[in-house]
Amino acid sequence: MLNQKILQLAPEEQIYHPNLSFSARANVRDAQIYERAGANFEEFWAEEAQKLHWFRPWDKVLEWQSPFAQWFVGGKINACYNCIDRHLEGWRRNKAAIIFEGEPGDQLVLTYQDLYREVTKFANVLLGMGITKGDPVTIYMPMIPQVVIAMLACARIGAPHSLVFGGFSSEALRDRINDAESKVVVTADGVWRRGKSIPLKQNVDTAVAECPSVQKVVVVQRTGAETQMDADRDVWYHDVMKAAPSGCKPEIMDAEDILFILYTSGTTGRPKGIVHTTGGYLTAVASTHRNIFDLKEEDVYWCTADVGWITGHSYLVYGPLANGTTVMLFEGAPDYPERDRFWEVIEKYKVSLFYTAPTAIRLFMKWGEEWTNKRDLSSLRLLGSVGEPINPEAWLWYHKNIGKENCPIVDTWWQTETGSVMVAPLPGITPTKPGSATMPMPGVSVDVVDEMGEPVERGGTGYLVITKPWPSMLRTVYKDPQRYADTYWSRFEGMYFTGDGARKDEDGYIWVQGRVDDVINVSGHRIGTAEVESALVEHPAVAEAAVIGRKHELKGQAVSAFVTLREGIAWAPELEKDLKSHVAKKIGGLARPEEIICAWELPKTRSGKIMRRLLRDIAEGRVLGDTSTLADPTVVKQLLNQKTAL
Ligand code: WT7
Repeated sequence: MLNQKILQLAPEEQIYHPNLSFSARANVRDAQIYERAGANFEEFWAEEAQKLHWFRPWDKVLEWQSPFAQWFVGGKINACYNCIDRHLEGWRRNKAAIIFEGEPGDQLVLTYQDLYREVTKFANVLLGMGITKGDPVTIYMPMIPQVVIAMLACARIGAPHSLVFGGFSSEALRDRINDAESKVVVTADGVWRRGKSIPLKQNVDTAVAECPSVQKVVVVQRTGAETQMDADRDVWYHDVMKAAPSGCKPEIMDAEDILFILYTSGTTGRPKGIVHTTGGYLTAVASTHRNIFDLKEEDVYWCTADVGWITGHSYLVYGPLANGTTVMLFEGAPDYPERDRFWEVIEKYKVSLFYTAPTAIRLFMKWGEEWTNKRDLSSLRLLGSVGEPINPEAWLWYHKNIGKENCPIVDTWWQTETGSVMVAPLPGITPTKPGSATMPMPGVSVDVVDEMGEPVERGGTGYLVITKPWPSMLRTVYKDPQRYADTYWSRFEGMYFTGDGARKDEDGYIWVQGRVDDVINVSGHRIGTAEVESALVEHPAVAEAAVIGRKHELKGQAVSAFVTLREGIAWAPELEKDLKSHVAKKIGGLARPEEIICAWELPKTRSGKIMRRLLRDIAEGRVLGDTSTLADPTVVKQLLNQKTAL
C-alpha cells in the first residue's frame, strides 16, 4: 500500500535519499550530529574551531550582548595563514590550490607553495604602500588568480578588503570606496567577456577622481588593452611584484578583528557595508564547506559565483582554501565560445564538486540536453545550488542531466550577512526534497515565525529567522551599528530577521519563498528597490518612481519600474531606453530595469504610500486584488492599459 503510494508521487514530491555508496564514505555519517550540536552549540562550534590553526587559544567561546556577538574571545588567528601556510608543511605544498582557466582558454595552476610566494609578495607591496592593520583596501577585479592573491595578501597583513563586483558602475564603486575610505584600490586593465575585452580601469579612474582617500591604484594587466596610467598614483601589478620580496610575517589578528567588508543592498538607498570578522567566520566557512560539499583531498571543486559576492568570498576563497582544496577558478561565460563551456571545463579538469545558481540551471535547461550530452560529466559526485529558491523543475533537471541521478544536490540557503550556509542538507544523511533547502545546519538555530514572532506549526508559513548567534554572523554595518541593530534585530525580539518568507512543512523541512522586504533577487543578486528608485528620480525626465521585482522565467525576478514624468515631458521608446541606461550607469548592468511603465500617477493609499503589491500584480498580469484602499482607483485602469499597450 505504502509503496504504491510512493510510486504514484510526482518526481517533485518524492524524497531523494542519499545513495548508500555515497553515505558510506561521507564526511558526516552520523545523524546524531544535529542533536549533539543542538544540545550545546557553543561546544559544537568550539570543536569546529579547533580544526583551524590558532596562535593563541580563545578564553571564551561566545560573548553575547544582544545584538552584538563576539566569538572565540581572546583567540589569535590569521585567515591567510590558515588558507596557505599550514598546508605547506607536508605534501600538500605541491597540491594545486587554484586551477585557473581564462575566457580565451589560457590556463594557470598555482600550488599552495606558489600561492604562498605570490601572496606574501603582494602583502609586501601593500605594506610598502603604507597599508597597515585596519586599513580597508578596495578590490575591483575580474575572476583571475590575482584577485585571490590580493584578498589573501590583505588578510595576511590585517587589512580588511572590500570587493566591488566588476559589473558595478563607476558611481557604485566610488560610493563604496568612499564609505570604506580606502587608500589603495586594486584593479585590472580589463576583463574578457564573450571574446571582447571590457575595460575596468576606466571605471576606476572615473570613480577615484571623486575619492579623496585613494593614494595608489594597482593595475593587473589582463587584456592588454591600452590603459591610461597616472604617473603619481597608478602602478602596474607586474612591475611592483618584480621588486617585492617573498615571505611576510602574518599579522597576529584578534578573532574579532575585521577580515572584510562587503557591501550589499538593503531596503534603503545606501548600500550597507557588511562586516565579517576573522575567527568565527573562518571557523564556519571551513566547517560548512567540508560538511556540505563532503570535501575529500582529491576533489576538484568549482564554485561558479563571482568572487565579488559573498559566495565567492566564503566558498571560492576562504572555506575551500582553509580546507586545502583544489579550487577551479573560471573567468568566462557559460555560452562562450559555445553553450557547453561549463561542461567542457568539468570534463577537462575532472571537476567533482560543482556549485552554481538556479538562474544558470534554468538557462542550461532552456539550451537543452544537446549541450550537456556532448561532454563527459562522470567526474561529478555532488552538486550545489545557491542564490535563490530553486524550482523543483530545475532541481530535477539538474539531478538528471548534470548529476546523472547519481549526485546528491545540496540546496544552500544563506546571505551576505550570515557569512556561511545556514540551511542545507548534509549530503550523506539528509534526505532531500526538490525545492527545499531542507534543515538548519548543525549548530545553527533557524525557525519560521508568525507576525508576533511565535514559531509556526508544521505546515505553516511565516518569516525566516535565526534564533541564536552563529560564528560567521555579520558583526555590524560598517560605521553604523545602529543600522545593524535596526535592520536585523528590531523586527522580532531577540531574533535575527532574514528578510525572507518561508514555509515549514509536515516534516519540518524549510522552503524559502523569497524576500518579503524591498529587496529584489535578480539571478541571485540582490538589488534594493530604493536604490533603483533613487537612480530613476535623479533623471531630469522623472518625477516619481516605484520599483518592484516581478517573476521572471530565467532570472527568478526581474526589475520592473513604474515612473511618472515631469511636466511637459512626453513618453517615448527612446526615453525608456535612456532611463534604462541611466540606471545601469548609476548602479550597474544588473540593476537595469526589464521594463519601464509610464503612468500618470502611481497607485497610492490614502496615506500616500505607494502600493507595491498592486504594482507587482499588474507587472505579473494577475487579477487585481482589493483596490478599495486606493486614493484614486482610476490610476490602476490607466496602468493596465499602459501595460497591455507595451
Ligand atoms: C538572499 C541573500 C549567499 C547566497 C548568495 C546570495 C536568497 C539565497 C537561497 C536558497 C532560497 C535563497 C534569499 C536570501 N537566497 N540562497 N538556497 N534558496 N533563497 O546572497 O545577495 O546576500 O542574498 O538570497 O532571499 O535572503 P545575498
